[in-house]
Amino acid sequence: MNRIAAGEVIERPAAAVKELVENALDAGARQIDVVMRDGGRALIVVSDDGCGMTPDELSLALERHATSKLPDDDLVHITSLGFRGEALPSIAAVSRLTITSRPPGAENAMSLTVEGGRKSAVQPAANPTGTRVEVRDLFFATPARLKFLKTARTELSHARDALQRLAMAHPEVGFTLSDSERKLLALAPAEGELFESRLKRLAAVMGRDFQENALPIDAEREGLRLTGFIGLPTLNRGNSLLQHLFVNGRPVRDKLLYGAVRGAYQDFLARDRHPVLALFLQVPPELVDVNVHPTKAEVRFRDPGLVRGLIVSAARHALAGAGHRAATTVADAALGALRPMAQPYGGGGPGVRASSYAAMPRGMAEAAARYHAPLPGMDEAPAARFSEASPAALDGGPAPESYPLGAARAQLHRTYVVAQTADGIVIVDQHAAHERLVYETMKRQLAETGVARQLLLLPEVVELGEGPAERLTARREELAELGLVIEPFGAGAVVVREVPALLGTLDVEGLLRDLADELTAFDEALALRDRLETVCGTMACHGSVRAGRELNQDEMNALLRNMEATPHSGQCNHGRPTYVELKLADIEKLFGRR
Ligand SMILES: Nc1ncnc2c1ncn2[C@@H]1O[C@H](COP(=O)(O)OP(=O)(O)OP(=O)(O)O)[C@@H](O)[C@H]1O
Ligand SMILES: [Mg+2]
Repeated sequence: MNRIAAGEVIERPAAAVKELVENALDAGARQIDVVMRDGGRALIVVSDDGCGMTPDELSLALERHATSKLPDDDLVHITSLGFRGEALPSIAAVSRLTITSRPPGAENAMSLTVEGGRKSAVQPAANPTGTRVEVRDLFFATPARLKFLKTARTELSHARDALQRLAMAHPEVGFTLSDSERKLLALAPAEGELFESRLKRLAAVMGRDFQENALPIDAEREGLRLTGFIGLPTLNRGNSLLQHLFVNGRPVRDKLLYGAVRGAYQDFLARDRHPVLALFLQVPPELVDVNVHPTKAEVRFRDPGLVRGLIVSAARHALAGAGHRAATTVADAALGALRPMAQPYGGGGPGVRASSYAAMPRGMAEAAARYHAPLPGMDEAPAARFSEASPAALDGGPAPESYPLGAARAQLHRTYVVAQTADGIVIVDQHAAHERLVYETMKRQLAETGVARQLLLLPEVVELGEGPAERLTARREELAELGLVIEPFGAGAVVVREVPALLGTLDVEGLLRDLADELTAFDEALALRDRLETVCGTMACHGSVRAGRELNQDEMNALLRNMEATPHSGQCNHGRPTYVELKLADIEKLFGRR
């Protein structure tokens, strides 16, 4: 059988971390701790509390193809993550490697160092039960590879990604990752039966949002079992990075699997949006070849059609069963929150203040708006602005209530626009909505004509410090494509000449600072276009309509009409809703009228 050499695949610190952590998992560890210094260039330490190695196994571990994991050299029934006996020798070939290991019951640990391909003698050392692998000066002898490494921060974040992916598949194992200063990741072993512990782990890695918006999957077909959680369509992203797919506990990036996921969501999501999910496929080892890709990132199934069918049908089934859950959870939550408040006060309780104000005689509302004075009988002044309720103001178009998002009636707390629809009330989060509108408009402009720019009358010089200024100017061309024209301006400063027109008045300095921060987190290889959501979110955040800005009625109605005309405007870029609709029927229920 033709084995694939791992030597080619230790191309960055994260790859070494992945191999070492996989070994620890194969060794049955319950706790795995990773330490990296200088992004893994200076030092990587992976310690586990697994089965350890005897002195003989220790020296064998560094021989090529000396895997202990394939009894009878059987490449057909692979159940471990490792199977080539390549990882340790490959890492040893490009670093100074020390392995210290102690199997349970051994009196002390033994340690072995390899440097420049030469093994030291096996020596007694101190270590608790388990194994500790230290990789020093990675790539010290291969300057070419060293040159291709990114900043320590980027390398660290790659390692964290790799560790998180493995951690998702092993909720029963605890993981930590730290650099010399702080802990970047701490995942306690998750308890409970499989679905429960897995959801806990997924929430810890993918966030609460996912936990709250995920549907469980559990399906079986001809010996294949698919389990995991898939996000509601409203929880979508601009790329497929948050689609985590596992085959027999191994994270994979496999075209067939992505295709199946796409197929499953086809009717629920726009083509350029991607769901968030974590799916675990359990396949009898003889029905899948895991030895087809140098980093084991891809697999080959004996029967691809079977796999695809299983994924598509299980996911579709779950999604269809969820119906309009996204929308209703939001409204239900809102109603649930109102209900307890409404009771002690009876009919006119504070839970529905907004709507009772809107229904008040107009003269009173106007007076209140004009003087910002507390309303008679109310002990606190709401931070509300009231609108002119006359439909005539809209030039004889259709009655504003007949628009899906209705006619704007008030702005509350300088954050929420309240509108009246034909049969209910709509509450819009103006900030979230604006963010979404900017995103969708920019996306359209980018595809069509390029993002429209607006010249600043007075170019603005922003002092950022050298690092941030460099990061921004390195991305000048891409930023210009997105409507932001900057030039370097001496050391540590940039001058801003043009900004995206659709942002209106802008806090230029704040925007640049935030963008510079974000760029540190982005992979250098990633186009800003691919991070459009994040970039737009940041831009919109500094644009004109943010939380806290007062809107007049025309502005409020323009926002509503704009939302109606914009695809996906029902949710902000983070999958949170941009508006909530409460039907009159539901509101009546609150007051026991139904
Ligand atoms: N943390 C560990 N605990 C116990 N044994 C280990 C550990 N790390 C490595 N070993 C032993 O060293 C051997 C070599 O490890 P290595 O990672 O090079 O190969 P592998 O895991 O068998 O295959 P692959 O190259 O596919 O990872 C393993 O087969 C295992 O016996
Ligand atoms: Mg291995």
